[in-house]
Amino acid sequence: MSRYLITSALPYINGVKHLGNLVGSMLPADAYARFQRARGREVLFICATDEHGTPAELAAHEAGMPIDEYCARMHSVQKDLGSRFGLSFDHFGRSHSPQNHEITQHFYHQLDQNGLLEERSTRQVYSIDDKRFLPDRYVVGTCPHCGYESARGDQCENCTRVLDPADLINPHSAISGSTNIEIRDSNHLFLKQSLMVGRLREWIDSRKDWPLLVTSIARKWLDEGLNDRSITRDLSWGIPVAYEGKVRPGFEGKVFYVWFDAPIEYIGATMEWADATKNNWKRWWREDEGAGDVRYVQVMGKDNVPFHTVGFPVTLFGSEEPWKVVDYIKGLNWMNYYGGKFSTSGNRGIFMDQALELLPADYWRWYLLANAPEPADSNFTWEHFQATINHDLADVLGNFVNRIAKFCTARFEGRIPDQGEYGPLEIETTQALEQKLTSLTGYMEALDFRKSTSELRSMWVIGNEYLQRAEPWMKIKTDPASAGVSIRYALNLALLFASLAQPFIPETSAKITRALNNTDSPLIWPRNVADRLSQLTPGAAITVPEVLFAKIEDSQVAEWAERFGGAEKKL
Ligand code: 2FM
Ligand code: ZN
Repeated sequence: MSRYLITSALPYINGVKHLGNLVGSMLPADAYARFQRARGREVLFICATDEHGTPAELAAHEAGMPIDEYCARMHSVQKDLGSRFGLSFDHFGRSHSPQNHEITQHFYHQLDQNGLLEERSTRQVYSIDDKRFLPDRYVVGTCPHCGYESARGDQCENCTRVLDPADLINPHSAISGSTNIEIRDSNHLFLKQSLMVGRLREWIDSRKDWPLLVTSIARKWLDEGLNDRSITRDLSWGIPVAYEGKVRPGFEGKVFYVWFDAPIEYIGATMEWADATKNNWKRWWREDEGAGDVRYVQVMGKDNVPFHTVGFPVTLFGSEEPWKVVDYIKGLNWMNYYGGKFSTSGNRGIFMDQALELLPADYWRWYLLANAPEPADSNFTWEHFQATINHDLADVLGNFVNRIAKFCTARFEGRIPDQGEYGPLEIETTQALEQKLTSLTGYMEALDFRKSTSELRSMWVIGNEYLQRAEPWMKIKTDPASAGVSIRYALNLALLFASLAQPFIPETSAKITRALNNTDSPLIWPRNVADRLSQLTPGAAITVPEVLFAKIEDSQVAEWAERFGGAEKKL
């Protein structure tokens, strides 16, 4: 496979995302996309904002903005933050784009033609004062089972019983508090998923290499029996239930459910990209137009897995058209904050914009990938963040690069020493690194980011051990040629490390490459270590990079824990 289609779960439009969201999909997808590009593969990396649904409407209302303006604004905020975090999307689209309207309505039409849609009458809560239907969870009242007074219409948070809004005692609108509500009948379109259980099970069973986290969630859904699901809602913001400009009779004022059109936006965003760059999107998505040789990888948090192993595949299969379906799903668990959830409303945890006010992106990228929530949930604490950065980045990588670049400047006039040949110590070190490179490459192919970062860190450690054994600082007094060999070897190691670190800490990787004046082919992932260790031209000039990573001080940890909520706020 030489072409890779990579999609990250689409972040909701309502507000800046926190670091838990970042490490749950966009960042690992980015590291993988960067890795595959560096391997020389043709990559298309797609993401977008997920712009429909009631939370988006309410967020716009709260911001006092019309919904379309709010979405346009938040899209540009999220796009900007993504690029400041080094997320190398080929396109960051919008699920409200005209392209997504077109392709969503196309799928609707296909499913309808194929007899997979059915109109059914449903009972919906209508708020007379809010002048709108209320989704179940925006109806609040007293739980008939346990008496909890703030139970939501979909589920009681206190006794966890699943509810129907009509069950609630004293029901009222969560939006306005109004009790002036009534139940109205409303027709909706149901997708007959139940007809597809066999086909889905066969497909899931054939995915032998998928992570257990993913297949077990998918199987649980299939085993529990797949209900037909409503794919329309009584809302005004969204994609109209229409085809070729004509609204389906009786569906005026209704739109598709956000979870119907959001995954379709993976295709919609590819169409946006193709329109903007004069490319062919079908090459990536249609088996009959060349997508047969695409490997399609999706990255997402575990809560999204059902929609990607069941919901979206039903849409694709049900169209009876040759769409590309996912080849591999990387599902992630949660990253928690001091053992509790990151929470927007509770002001706990760190949001993407705040993170960049404190430190450059690479500090966060490294920490998050090294502690990616795989295979279980992981936990952010400021103390752990400090320890990781100070050890891995400042002491191990940063120190290695700065030390040798400074020494080369002080003792070799900033030129790569050209005397002498590599000896047994260099050969031994290279061999140790070859093994590590093989496993690192394997872990990256498997999207195993904890193991990858750990392997890369151990390569940096080998670099430091080499310097300790070679002792160029001592040898310079007795055997300058041998010191020169060590420095030439170590500078080449620094360049190797820059190539390998690029998927994780791209800005730093570029800084090292620039300092070594080797900006021509820095991003190529090495096939083997040995070839890379004679890459720098002897005699060429280098510079000392600015300090790559500053250590995080205890006083900063104390200040940040105070500002963002630390151990004392443990839930
Ligand atoms: O959970 C979420 O954040 C959703 N916005 C993910 C959507 S993924 C895709 F299907 F669009
Ligand atoms: Zn209850």
